[in-house]
Amino acid sequence: MNIQIFANKEEASQQAFILIKEALDQNKLNFGMMTGESPKLFYQMLRESDLDFTQANSINLDEFYGLGEEDEHSYHYYMEKHLFKFKQFNQTFIPNGKNYNLIDEIDRYEQILADYPRDIQMLGIGVNGHIGFNEPGESFNSTTHLTRLAETTIGTYQNYFKGLERPPEYAYSMGIKSIMDADQIILLAFGAHKAKAVRDMIEGPVTRKVPASILQNHPNTVILLDREASRLLNS
Ligand code: GLP
Repeated sequence: MNIQIFANKEEASQQAFILIKEALDQNKLNFGMMTGESPKLFYQMLRESDLDFTQANSINLDEFYGLGEEDEHSYHYYMEKHLFKFKQFNQTFIPNGKNYNLIDEIDRYEQILADYPRDIQMLGIGVNGHIGFNEPGESFNSTTHLTRLAETTIGTYQNYFKGLERPPEYAYSMGIKSIMDADQIILLAFGAHKAKAVRDMIEGPVTRKVPASILQNHPNTVILLDREASRLLNS
C-alpha cells in the first residue's frame, strides 16, 4: 500500500486529481467512480479542469436498491450533479436500482465490468471498514450482488435519507473481487471519524470483518488521507 498523508482534504483531493490526469495522459480510459462526501472536492477539481473525458468510461461502484435516477438520493443523481452534467464521458455505467430482477441486473453489470476493465478504481471507506457496499462479513470472492446495508451504514445515512418514506435497506454493489480486479485503486479517507477504519485497513489483519483490509493484498493501492484520518496509524 502506498500511503500518503496530507495536511488537509484539499491537498489529498489534489493528489487524486493529479493521478487521474496522469492516467488520462497515458491513455487510460476506464475509471471506476465512487460517491459520498469524500470525493466531492475531487469531483469539483475534475469539473473545473480542462481534462477531456470524451473518450473515457465511468463505471460506478454501487447504487441503492429501489432508487431511480430521478430520485435525488440516488447515486445516479449524485453523479449527474457532481460530474456528468459538466464533463462528457464516452459512456457512464451505474447499477440500476430500479431493476428488481436481481439476476438480470447482476449479469448486466458483470458484463460491463468484463467489457470495461478498470484502469483505476476510486474508493472511499465506511466507518465500519466497508468498501462500495461490501459490509463486514462479505466474502473476499464476491462479485456484483445485492447487499443488505449494515445498521451502522444506515445510521450514517440518516440525514441523507431524510424525506424518504422508506429509506433503502439494500444496494447493488460491485463485489470485493470486482474491486480488486482494477489495475490501480485510489482510496480517499478524510476526517477523525474515519481514523479507526483507516488504521484497521492498513495495520490490522486481513479479515472479512474489515472489508477494506483486503486492499493490503492489492499490488497497486494508493491511500490518500488527511491528517485526521491518519491519526491512529502507528507508523
Ligand atoms: C458509502 C458508499 C461508499 C463510500 C463510503 C464512504 O456507504 N457505499 O462507496 O465510499 O460509504 O462515504 P463518505 O465518503 O460519505 O464517508
